[in-house]
Amino acid sequence: DCNPKGACRLNSSNESAKNALFTPGFAQDPYPVYARMREEEPIAKLMFPDGQFGWMITRYEDAVDVLKDNRFIKDMTKIFGNGYQSIFTSNMLFSDPPDHRRLRGLVQQGFTPKLVESMREHIQQIADGLLDAVEGRSEMSLIDDFAFPLPIIVISEILGVPIEDQDKFRVWSNSIIGASNSEEGPQVYQHMQEFTAYLGQWFEKVRQEPGDDLISQLIMAEEAGEKLSEQEIYGVVALLIIAGHETTVNLIGNGMISLLQHPDQLRKLQEDPSLVKGAIEEMLRYNGPVEFSTSRWAGEDLEFRGHQMKRGDLVVVALDSADRDGEQFADPDLFDITRERSRHLAFGHGIHMCLGAPLARLEGEIAVNTLLRRFPNIRLREDAGELEWRPGMIVRGVKEIPLSL
Ligand code: HEM
Repeated sequence: DCNPKGACRLNSSNESAKNALFTPGFAQDPYPVYARMREEEPIAKLMFPDGQFGWMITRYEDAVDVLKDNRFIKDMTKIFGNGYQSIFTSNMLFSDPPDHRRLRGLVQQGFTPKLVESMREHIQQIADGLLDAVEGRSEMSLIDDFAFPLPIIVISEILGVPIEDQDKFRVWSNSIIGASNSEEGPQVYQHMQEFTAYLGQWFEKVRQEPGDDLISQLIMAEEAGEKLSEQEIYGVVALLIIAGHETTVNLIGNGMISLLQHPDQLRKLQEDPSLVKGAIEEMLRYNGPVEFSTSRWAGEDLEFRGHQMKRGDLVVVALDSADRDGEQFADPDLFDITRERSRHLAFGHGIHMCLGAPLARLEGEIAVNTLLRRFPNIRLREDAGELEWRPGMIVRGVKEIPLSL
């Protein structure tokens, strides 16, 4: 089996597909491995790169069932004790009802589709401003020049944190989100401390001078009563900053790669920009930004589809695999922006389904259509070599995407 550092190889076709998980080749193209896992062992018991034993779910139907089954829980302190609590887990993503409802409820009204839609014009201006800066150039770096800054500017404005600090946020959130397979544990720890100290100072400022941003609202809610603790303010804000940094950037990045690698689909969208909503859904399904961060713990000894799971077993749902399941999607490996209503799982399912989905969709739509409108000859730079997919357990994305304009 794989060793704890994830050094495992698929040497021959006789070897089980799960041995190829977490290898460098897997990061480059996970889909053939997932296809074999869905066939051979759709509910696979294995060891994850951090040495933790658990289960990986790769079929769509099983994924939906796990995500809506409340025997699978998020709050690991219920199993491992309070020592496992940190500010990075004091939020809705790592809570179960009733805490989950309370924490999600406090920020939900800031992300409704209606409210998010009212940001359209402003997000369009931000997108155009970023592309004004590359106008006249023959090349651009999609991630650095556009896909990364766009969602950061938007979430920074919603939260009311200074955009000048975006470079720091990038280092911290990259480090924290890569933590599960990083060799540099102490540095991750230092980054977590710096991030926490930064937020602490910022909250102090907000307490003295509240505005109409989301952080001010959370702090006022804390001061007004017992709705949330100080630790939870850190937890919710850190989650929103990290989610705003590490996901939408890869929707734009992975989505543009899919489009540019399928010139017929690119042409279709260029000819009819109103297809963009369906195109974004297909980008999310075909090459979704969230890899296997959608994890749960078995909250009790239980049976799931004939498998005996022990209380405390890790259960990881591979969303990108579920979204290529031929039982759910016709021609699953075909990238088709006109696909009929696709119930993909890129934003998860059930009570933890992504809170930021309306915002991410809107940012994606604006980003893709603005790039195509402003640069009709846009393509991947031919001399750039093979794209390098970031190895990681949490998000799936490319380090850099060099474009010719
Ligand atoms: C939860 C995906 C963008 C905030 C989730 C989950 C997924 C996901 C799969 C569920 C995790 C689970 O069930 O374990 C994505 C993708 C995005 C995106 C693919 C971009 C394309 C955003 C943005 C924000 C955000 C922009 C914030 C502004 C959240 C929050 C949760 C969440 C707060 C936790 C919800 C809960 O536990 O109730 N996201 N996300 N996401 N996402 Fe996103």
